[in-house]
Amino acid sequence: MKLSIIVAISENGVIGAGPHIPWKAKGEQLLFKALSYNQWVLVGRKTFESMGNLPNRHYAVVTRSDYTCHDKNVIVFSSIEAALEKLETITDHVVVAGGGQVFRALIKKADILHISTIHTVVDGDVHFPPVPENFRKIFSQYFSSNIDYTYEIWERI
Ligand SMILES: NC(=O)c1ccc[n+]([C@@H]2O[C@H](COP(=O)([O-])OP(=O)(O)OC[C@H]3O[C@@H](n4cnc5c(N)ncnc54)[C@H](OP(=O)(O)O)[C@@H]3O)[C@@H](O)[C@H]2O)c1
Repeated sequence: MKLSIIVAISENGVIGAGPHIPWKAKGEQLLFKALSYNQWVLVGRKTFESMGNLPNRHYAVVTRSDYTCHDKNVIVFSSIEAALEKLETITDHVVVAGGGQVFRALIKKADILHISTIHTVVDGDVHFPPVPENFRKIFSQYFSSNIDYTYEIWERI
């Protein structure tokens, strides 16, 4: 099963401030929408509660609490390991969509990183971990928008 991380990171490494993403770069979220369409999306409970669920995706939400969700497209798991074990039996691709805790837990297991660097410097309290050295950049494209951003694809060597 392939694991693809998708994340948007400010130039100073911020991915979130409290529950929010502290910028709005027009067009950038289309990348997430395209990559996650009809896919299983793995998220931490905090990210799921702040971003909600888009149609045409299945969600695996991890929590250590008694959090529940009755949407038919959402399964709640008590650990990342339990989520991956079940997902192995139902899909060959999982989009790991955050937030910070889930990225930190899974970056070493990821096969592909889709990273949008948002060309802004912002305050925030949630950061993306350093990209491990065994990843190499295979694609990069600059986008002009209200806030410019650069989309990169990194693959594990
Ligand atoms: N810029 C981006 O691309 C991007 C993408 C996604 C999210 N974000 C931002 O990231 C921030 C949220 O990140 P976060 O690190 O605070 O939280 P998070 O990773 O979204 O969720 C953390 C929660 O997930 C559960 N969890 C984490 N690890 C677990 C494990 N091993 N087993 C079981 N449950 C586990 C726990 O839920 P319980 O507390 O319920 O036990 C934990 O409190 C927000 O600001 C959001 O906007 C940014």
